[in-house]
Amino acid sequence: MKSVAVPVLVLVLVLSLLWYHTDGVHIVDPNRNSSDVGVDLSAVIRRVDRRFLSVTIDASLASEEKFVYLLASPKVRTLAKALSPAFLRFGGTRQDFMVFTPQRRRPASGLTAEQSCDELELPSWLEERLKKEWTQQQLILMREDLRRKYRRVKFTDDTPLDISLSSADPTPINKTLHLCYLPPATEYTVDLLHSFANCSGMDLIFGLNALLRTADNAWNSSNARSLLQYCESRQYRTSWELGNEPNSYEKKAGVRVDGYQLGQDFTRLREMMSQSKLYQDAGLYGPDVGQPRDHRTDILEGFLQSGAEAVDACTWHHYYVNGRDTSVEDFLDPEVLDSLALKTNEVLETVKLVSPGKAVWLGETSSAYGGGAVGLSDTFVAGFMWLDKLGLAARLGLDVVMRQVFIGSGSYHLVDENLDPLPDYWLSVLYKRLVGPEVLKIEAFSSFARSKRVRLYLHCSNKKSYSSGAVTLISMNLSKKPARISVPALVSSSTVEAFVLQSGEEGLYSRSVKLNGEVLKMVDDKTLPALKGSRLPPAERLQLPAYSLAFFVLADARAAACIPAR
Ligand SMILES: *[C@@H]1O[C@H](CO)[C@@H](O)[C@H](O)[C@H]1NC(C)=O
Ligand SMILES: *[C@@H]1O[C@H](CO)[C@@H](O)[C@H](O)[C@H]1NC(C)=O
Ligand SMILES: *[C@@H]1O[C@H](CO)[C@@H](O)[C@H](O)[C@H]1NC(C)=O
Ligand SMILES: *[C@@H]1O[C@H](CO)[C@@H](O)[C@H](O)[C@H]1NC(C)=O
Repeated sequence: MKSVAVPVLVLVLVLSLLWYHTDGVHIVDPNRNSSDVGVDLSAVIRRVDRRFLSVTIDASLASEEKFVYLLASPKVRTLAKALSPAFLRFGGTRQDFMVFTPQRRRPASGLTAEQSCDELELPSWLEERLKKEWTQQQLILMREDLRRKYRRVKFTDDTPLDISLSSADPTPINKTLHLCYLPPATEYTVDLLHSFANCSGMDLIFGLNALLRTADNAWNSSNARSLLQYCESRQYRTSWELGNEPNSYEKKAGVRVDGYQLGQDFTRLREMMSQSKLYQDAGLYGPDVGQPRDHRTDILEGFLQSGAEAVDACTWHHYYVNGRDTSVEDFLDPEVLDSLALKTNEVLETVKLVSPGKAVWLGETSSAYGGGAVGLSDTFVAGFMWLDKLGLAARLGLDVVMRQVFIGSGSYHLVDENLDPLPDYWLSVLYKRLVGPEVLKIEAFSSFARSKRVRLYLHCSNKKSYSSGAVTLISMNLSKKPARISVPALVSSSTVEAFVLQSGEEGLYSRSVKLNGEVLKMVDDKTLPALKGSRLPPAERLQLPAYSLAFFVLADARAAACIPAR
């Protein structure tokens, strides 16, 4: 019978942030019964990597070399730059089917990765063609995924036309382009990826193939060695990974590799790196395991036993739901959002047990696996999973979160097949600009905590955008029920800048997003809109419309935790 009382309670719920002022420190008194939210601005509880919000490019984009040229689109580069600093992870299922084949052949086309950042520009007519062909290519890739049949891709192109799988594939593909305009050139994929990352201010993480095995099932490092040598000869600053979701190697390739062996393979790679001037201090991350299922973390445990020393961070992957079997309700369900906490704590426990102190990253993550949920992962509603993941991950102890994907495969992309930014892209850019790496404590009490539909996170503001002492309140409202966050006298005399994101025309399923009422879109291919906040008049309450995502910057909060010690 609780259903009668609770809505009434929630209806009159008033959230008060009560601030006391002592020597420049504002503290909320959690003991006050009228307060539903407690905040501590005196101490940082965690500090994440400055590249916390990072992105991936799925290796499927390199299923044919020409598609990697999409990364030379001026629009794509403009969009990428706004997300720096960040890691750019190149990896995914197909990384374990890719073979690097060095070839000293000079490219004949005008486009080379040796050109400076401004010179390397994909002409618009070529961009148009590649976009169309990529749409077709995605269908082929999807079928491969369903059949779990992966053809081997060489980073070379002796055989650029080898697109047929073991069985006949009816989808025709325009091969002319590759032959005529994109010369077969060996190291192009690597060149373009590096150029893209470097020119956008991102740090490239390159995922190596771990399915190249010797007769006794150890990793055969010879191909990786030639790739490292090539990258070193070009002075490409890169960090590395080895293998993707080894827990499903048996399903994908009929090969079983246990965690302990994998750890030894990583140790082998670390040895190789230490012999290189350029890579002796480079990052190595792994093992990129899938999320724990049925409380099993055995691959991870075995891996850490033999390989923890070799890696700078332990990576795992997380998706909330299956893209082929989910609904808008899942995307708004607090229980689903909270499931990340359970998985994260399981992984953190394992790491703490075997390799205490090791950094833990989400090496690949998104809303729904299987390429995302069409019509959900690429629309406004995906923002709740994305923003909540960023908030929760930072608070729980993860240092980097790599979003699958920046561009390319699936419907969980930030930039769509027309190379236009989707709602989660704008959310990511705002996060970058407004949120700093220092996590502060914010707690919800009483009925407010129980409802779980208004979710709050608190960080110091990004010091590049705001002076020290400023804080950014991240909040989202997944409900139709009333509640408001009232800002008490002290803080309301401070400037509050609001960035409220709401859906465009099609509601939750909208592929556009409004910031403070204005639909966000690029000014032109090289210019983003200003992304201005709206100043709230002093003493105003913080209003969160239904189904909204928001950042509130309290610019003059003078939070002690956010002021560097002298
Ligand atoms: C809060 O309420 C409890 C009873 O529910 C009471 O014991 C306590 O003293 C109250 N605290 C304050 C600070 O009013
Ligand atoms: C990386 O980019 C910088 C400019 O941002 C440029 O000076 C440098 O040459 C680039 N490095 C490589 C290896 O392309
Ligand atoms: C590793 O792979 C290379 C290239 O395919 C091959 O020549 C070599 O014999 C392999 N080494 C082992 C130990 O299997
Ligand atoms: C969440 O949205 C509902 C519906 O518009 C609204 O009544 C409520 O006050 C909002 N919550 C907050 C914290 O602003």
